[in-house]
Amino acid sequence: MVKRRIFFVRETAYCQSVSCIKLDKCAYARIVSRELMKNQIASVQAEALARIAGIADMKALEDARVGILGKKGTLTQVQQGMRDVPKEDKPAVGALLNEARATITTALEDRKAALQQEIDAAAVAGVDFTMPGATLPAGGLHPISIVRDEAVRVLRRMGFTLADGPEIEDEWHCFDALNTPDDHPARNEKDTFYFDSGKLLRTQTSTVQARVMEKDCPPIRIICPGSAFRRDAIDATHLSAFNQIEGLYVAREVSVGDLKGTLEYFLKALFGEETAVRFRPHFFPFTEPSFEIDVLLQAAGQAPRWIEIAGCGMVNPAVFENIDKATGKNLYAGCTGFAFGIGLERLAMIRWGIRDIRLLIENDARFLAQFQ
Ligand code: DAH
Repeated sequence: MVKRRIFFVRETAYCQSVSCIKLDKCAYARIVSRELMKNQIASVQAEALARIAGIADMKALEDARVGILGKKGTLTQVQQGMRDVPKEDKPAVGALLNEARATITTALEDRKAALQQEIDAAAVAGVDFTMPGATLPAGGLHPISIVRDEAVRVLRRMGFTLADGPEIEDEWHCFDALNTPDDHPARNEKDTFYFDSGKLLRTQTSTVQARVMEKDCPPIRIICPGSAFRRDAIDATHLSAFNQIEGLYVAREVSVGDLKGTLEYFLKALFGEETAVRFRPHFFPFTEPSFEIDVLLQAAGQAPRWIEIAGCGMVNPAVFENIDKATGKNLYAGCTGFAFGIGLERLAMIRWGIRDIRLLIENDARFLAQFQ
């Protein structure tokens, strides 16, 4: 289109120059051609700016960009006329074209920014930014975790390091290594969860004692917090899945005094200097002598009562012999030591005066929120 028009202009210029004005015909044609381009650029630009100013949505804006600056856009069409602009005028006309393209591009960008602003403003219209946000209730640690962390902190301060062992165990680590004879009631199917494979859910974290002694050598000073499982009927002081913290100290010339001092210090650090603690003689196959430890529970609205929280004792030499026999290393001859296993649920009950252990597994948010 444009090309043809310019060609036509040249013809006219030629005719006019011959008939009317005594002007060099080429010079005349140049002026006409240049002026025509200038006019076309100016009119395309004016039209484009007017169109852009009236645009009210992004889609129309994009259509306008393509319609003006695109391959077949109005300005691009004018630009094709450059072919017919005499060489000497190309730089000047080219500059005009570039200027028009830049002006239109800026107008498109400005309009786009303004439209985006309108869209953003509409999206938040009516929103009151001064209103307080919706508060999500904060989560927190379960009381068992709190008490476990505190217990571990105190015991680590006393030089114990953390050890670990599996919850699915074999009979050797759970019973045989710990001097528990075949006919011991704890090994009964009524008391222990057995798998068909013969493996079992550990009934005590004492399994870790055997595992650590097998792989380490004395002196040993470890603790192991973890879960244990028994086929117990659930009541106010028993669960079938519960948590313990096991401790083992093996060295030379360890005494009952070390055991008592360590555990009394631990319990007082946890519950306060005034805590009433008592050691009762008891029986465990893996310690000799053995004790149970009671702490006085003072639950709100209830008379104070002694509650058993741990078993402990001096490591039975039979356990050292079992380990030495199994490893063939003879590392424990002449060693002495003490061990203890503390019920973490029981610790939590004493710490907060909880009267029923079942509250700890009900996941009632009203109960748990009290510990946050
Ligand atoms: N394992 C025992 C239980 O679960 C507790 C216990 C008693 C652990 C004496 C010990 C210990 O380490 O020496 O009832």
